[in-house]
Amino acid sequence: MDIVHNSVKKVRIPDLAKWKRQSRKITMLTAYDATMAALLDRAGIDALLVGDSLGMVVLGHETTIPVTLDDVIHHAAAVTRGARRALVIADLPFLTYQLSAEQALQNAGRLLQEGGVHAVKLEGGRALAGVVRRLVEAGIPVMGHLGLTPQSVHQLGGFGAVGKTEEEAARIFEDARVLQQAGAFAIVLESIPRELAARITAELRIPTIGIGAGPDCDGQVLVIHDLLGLSFGHKPKFARRYADVGEIVSRAAAQYCRDVQQGSFPSDEESYHTRTEHAGALFAQRK
Ligand code: KIV
Repeated sequence: MDIVHNSVKKVRIPDLAKWKRQSRKITMLTAYDATMAALLDRAGIDALLVGDSLGMVVLGHETTIPVTLDDVIHHAAAVTRGARRALVIADLPFLTYQLSAEQALQNAGRLLQEGGVHAVKLEGGRALAGVVRRLVEAGIPVMGHLGLTPQSVHQLGGFGAVGKTEEEAARIFEDARVLQQAGAFAIVLESIPRELAARITAELRIPTIGIGAGPDCDGQVLVIHDLLGLSFGHKPKFARRYADVGEIVSRAAAQYCRDVQQGSFPSDEESYHTRTEHAGALFAQRK
């Protein structure tokens, strides 16, 4: 039975595999607050990811490592309040699922219960097969994440592409198969060669969602700040900028500063006025 909310047919987990079979591309973007979630939902996005990238683009950290489960729950709850149609997935942050399957189950459960999300995402391959299986057995849909896994940035030595050697490619390919076998419903492939992503996509039944993994994946995801021109610093080559909202914000704020300083904001029309019958009494008191 379809889940209908205020006459909107919501995206469900099985829709993603169905769309893969139909070669209908899946669209996903990150979101961290209710307003952006509502705007992206209205634009027709299929899935919203409350990524731990929020640590970098919202909270100002240099990596995703300092992000806590409470941070993600806080932002996930806002996103689920704003989204009507889109599937909402949240990241399990660093060290909230690696200790044991029980730890992962407890924390993923909080993302569903307190954050209201429909599914969780975690980074890693075969070492996490048991964790994925435990969550799926408990009824929690899991999205995998392979390739550049930002929570391992120190081990990887940076945010560059991975999977370029035969050995690395073979490991990522096998990890993808293991995650599917463990019950993951989709896998994000980040910053890997197009050819490798295409091979994995052709091999798996479950959809692949690419970010810096070429056009042959079953779907694509971008960080919303990159798409809107709201991020600073290094811009990865796959992060196509669809708007320069950062420039619009800076220009609007600079104009506001000038208007306040010159006394042209607020104008008389933008001010409230005393009712004429009370004006006499007010000014009399002041004397
Ligand atoms: O945290 C995030 O935003 C992500 C995407 C880059 C896939 O994991």
